[in-house]
Amino acid sequence: MKWKRKDLLDLENLTAEEIKHILHTAIPMKEILGRPIKKLPTLRGKSVVLLFYESSTRTRTSFENAAKILGADTTNFSVAQSSVNKGESLLDTAKTLQAMNVDLVIVRHSSSGSAEFLADILNAGVINGGDGQHAHPTQALLDYFTIQDHLGGFEGKKVVIVGDILHSRVARSNVVGLKKLGAEVTLVGPPTLLPPEMKYLGVKISHHLDQELPGADAVMALRLQLERQQSGLFPSIREYSKLYGLNKERIKLTGKDTIVMHPGPMNRGVEIASDLADSVQSVIEEQVTNGVAVRMALIYLLIGGGTVNVVD
Ligand code: CP
Repeated sequence: MKWKRKDLLDLENLTAEEIKHILHTAIPMKEILGRPIKKLPTLRGKSVVLLFYESSTRTRTSFENAAKILGADTTNFSVAQSSVNKGESLLDTAKTLQAMNVDLVIVRHSSSGSAEFLADILNAGVINGGDGQHAHPTQALLDYFTIQDHLGGFEGKKVVIVGDILHSRVARSNVVGLKKLGAEVTLVGPPTLLPPEMKYLGVKISHHLDQELPGADAVMALRLQLERQQSGLFPSIREYSKLYGLNKERIKLTGKDTIVMHPGPMNRGVEIASDLADSVQSVIEEQVTNGVAVRMALIYLLIGGGTVNVVD
């Protein structure tokens, strides 16, 4: 399959075939990650800018590593040290990057739609590294890669996503792609953190985690956004953890060797118990490794212009 898209903004517009192509391209990329010398000349001369207006550990560093492994030059745009602090707009920042002839911009921003806004302006490719509460497509793709690795596919697999669905771009992107790939998705959370309209995406919604766990092939805990606790969306962290926190005892309710996922960063002891996060069922560290492979695949497809076997 020849990749034709300039940008990756969300998963709404991608077909199941395109999602599978990205996952397929990530397989040789993961093999490269296991080599003693992780450096290819494939994207020598290409430039990638990391434009992060919000904090990030995993997404920013994995994109940076991914681009460097493929031989591209990377520029870290630090908002704290940039002219954003002097009032420069996203539009003018984007035009400045355009004038430098960059090939690819990875953007994270608190405003939903910011990645699409940049993609419309820039000749360079744009990858959405998370925009507001809208989408986090590369997180979802690395989650699919991990699920595929462990479960062999998606058709008929039961995936439970539990936590703060309301504020989660990870949940939104995951739902969109998992449905396209044929998985059965159940979203679980307290009524204040689980918008009822999510059911229109073709998923089951529930407020009772213990009822949804039996038969689950993968369970994904989402970060409880503690900064929102003041707004009265749930009574206390202790009560939330009792009803919706994952732990070793509770995960036994699945009756399977279920994989336990978390996009990070984790609140240990809140949405997931430490012993479960560090257990053999946990694939959380694998998700991080797979994140580099999937982001290598995306960078390669967007600005490498080739097919999978070019990197062999
Ligand atoms: N999962 C995720 O997006 O993590 P970061 O915020 O550290 O990038």
